[in-house]
Amino acid sequence: YHVDMSVSDTEKGPYPFYMLKEINEQPTVMRRLAQTYLDEKGQPQIAPELLAALKQADRLYILAAGTSYHAGLVAKSMFEKLAQLPTEVSLASEFGYNTPLLAKKPFFLFLSQSGETADSRQVLVKVKQWGYPSLTMTNVPGSTLSREATYTLLLKAGPEIAVASTKAYTAQIALQAILAKALGETRQLVTAQKFDIRKQLGLVANGMQTLIDEHHRFDQLAKTYLGTTSNAFYIGRGYDYPVSLEAALKLKEISYVQAEGFAGAELKHGTISLIEKGTPVIAIITDKRVASHTRSNVQEVRARGAHVLTIAMHAVAQQSDQVVLADVNPLLSALLSVVPAQLLAYYTSLNRGYDVDKPRNLAKAVTVE
Ligand code: G6P
Repeated sequence: YHVDMSVSDTEKGPYPFYMLKEINEQPTVMRRLAQTYLDEKGQPQIAPELLAALKQADRLYILAAGTSYHAGLVAKSMFEKLAQLPTEVSLASEFGYNTPLLAKKPFFLFLSQSGETADSRQVLVKVKQWGYPSLTMTNVPGSTLSREATYTLLLKAGPEIAVASTKAYTAQIALQAILAKALGETRQLVTAQKFDIRKQLGLVANGMQTLIDEHHRFDQLAKTYLGTTSNAFYIGRGYDYPVSLEAALKLKEISYVQAEGFAGAELKHGTISLIEKGTPVIAIITDKRVASHTRSNVQEVRARGAHVLTIAMHAVAQQSDQVVLADVNPLLSALLSVVPAQLLAYYTSLNRGYDVDKPRNLAKAVTVE
């Protein structure tokens, strides 16, 4: 399977759909972010004014919608662990209707691939009226949210054309990791100093490439596990929980399979009643702290007839796991565990004969509230 690397940013080239092209570009995007935002020693290169403003903050508010919201959920741990900055992640729409009591020195981070999402913009307008500092992380230079925020960081993912977001999601996670590391360094925190982001992004890029090289396997797995089903579940705990939400969103957006992501522990609080003979359950297991608990969930749903597929990180993997991910720092495991989910969604949609890039009723950017 040869791919011409000179395919331009806005052409599909040999790919049947943009989504597959964009999934395949992710290793390149990871390396490009490292090249753009890290120096030769692997130290983050982030505008000093932005870091100074963040350093003053006592709480970070991340606002976003859709897939970008899921990227924010993943990044919360990074800002809290690497930079000791308390972080709240909200759907921009809900935050707008029901603004929480704010900290004394809030800083607002808007995540938006397009930079045009109206739900996010309505919050940014208020943030500006209140006079608080803001940063937009976006893929589109000059976009509305980028022009209106105090600071901008660009995702450098190249144009994303498929409605279902893939490379912008992983770029948002990686760039937030770089930002969290940079902030932790300015605060002289040992955890940040020890976090070798350049090495980690290299491991991530290689691990992604391995998965992408095996893309035909995911076609098979999609046929076996998701072939004709009308519903499916992703489960995960800890770092794997936000990924299960994004994994489920990918599947429902383009294949119209009703999919839900659950925190493993919540199964016993009601949701396990949804499991029937043959129900597909995909377990994401990368987080060492909770791997054995998720394994117990796998046993529980299997006992009720679920058709279980496991995606596990090498360090916690077992022989029976169908998909094994390369080992990376747990804070970045989402960058790898989401790729099988993207490919499973892609092939499920493709095999059902849908227009993968243009799912019904959905738009790439939603500019109404
Ligand atoms: C739309 C798209 C989603 C996207 C969301 C947020 O609903 O279909 O794929 O995640 O908007 O978009 P943004 O450009 O703000 O990241």
